[in-house]
Amino acid sequence: MTDLRTLPKLELHLHLEGAAPPAFIRSLAARKKVDLSKIFDGSGAYVYRDFPDFLRVYEAACTVLTNPQDFHNLTLAVLEQSARHGVVYSEAFLSPDFCGGGDLIAWRDYLAAIEAAAATAEAEMGITLRGCITCIRHFGPEKARQIARCAQETAGPFITGFGIAGDEAQFHPREFAYAFDAAREAGLGLTAHAGEWGGPESVRAALEYLHVTRIGHGVRAVEDEALIAHLAERGIVLEVCPGSNIALGLYPDMSAHPIETLRRKGVLVTVSTDDPPFFHTDMTREYQMLADTFDWQDEDFAQMHQTALNAAFCDTRTRAAIAKKLE
Ligand code: HPA
Ligand code: ZN
Repeated sequence: MTDLRTLPKLELHLHLEGAAPPAFIRSLAARKKVDLSKIFDGSGAYVYRDFPDFLRVYEAACTVLTNPQDFHNLTLAVLEQSARHGVVYSEAFLSPDFCGGGDLIAWRDYLAAIEAAAATAEAEMGITLRGCITCIRHFGPEKARQIARCAQETAGPFITGFGIAGDEAQFHPREFAYAFDAAREAGLGLTAHAGEWGGPESVRAALEYLHVTRIGHGVRAVEDEALIAHLAERGIVLEVCPGSNIALGLYPDMSAHPIETLRRKGVLVTVSTDDPPFFHTDMTREYQMLADTFDWQDEDFAQMHQTALNAAFCDTRTRAAIAKKLE
């Protein structure tokens, strides 16, 4: 089989801030005199107990991202890592809530810095980035409306998607219908985190109220045969992040992970890292786990790449350019 590290890849589910190397955050914290010692262990890795604690640590790390230059540097650091693992196309969740403490007035400056870094990375490393503006569920529907407005104002060739992340236990998806309607009207592709902690009913609710074409995670759908059939029939694409699910204790190991069962039942699956340094993972490791545990071969990866390419939130020209890189 081909070398899994150099195999050209697409990644549809990556949180830009969540991909920040711990050393990057630690150095900003030192420079800005912010005490973040509680979120790192002795070896300098992020440390958290469970999912709610992960969200707290995540938000604490974001507090040192206070200006556009930080995001410029962050974007370059993240894309450099992705490119090292063969990623040629990446969609990153960008959360205005975490830019300079949620300074929505300055959001365009942050976005300009991210976009400039993406252009540099494309020229120098051959990796294409597209942004998916993401609201944070536990910050509530009113904040999500404001974030949707940011998305409407900046939708274009670079900002191509809208999504929701955060704590699935907070607020019902119907409360975010307005934000998703606004994003859809702006021509953005739609995805929602569901079926990670919320169970199959959260996937049903995301489809019913938010009309998304992709689901972030979605793996708990495996618990509901009728839902599996519905996902397969509708061609809903799951952005599956096995390493994330295992690190957060949703499944004990890859052999217990439902990605293969879902795929065999006709659900369209893709694979991503979510927040690589938090989960001690990277795209090569994700691919290696699929090869080792489920005996995925070149043709299985190729099929998944086609699924990801079809589901990517990008224009036709970009899709054609990425397709060439996969040949
Ligand atoms: N789930 C929900 N919210 C998140 C995640 C996740 O895996 N990563 C970053 N924010
Ligand atoms: Zn995620």
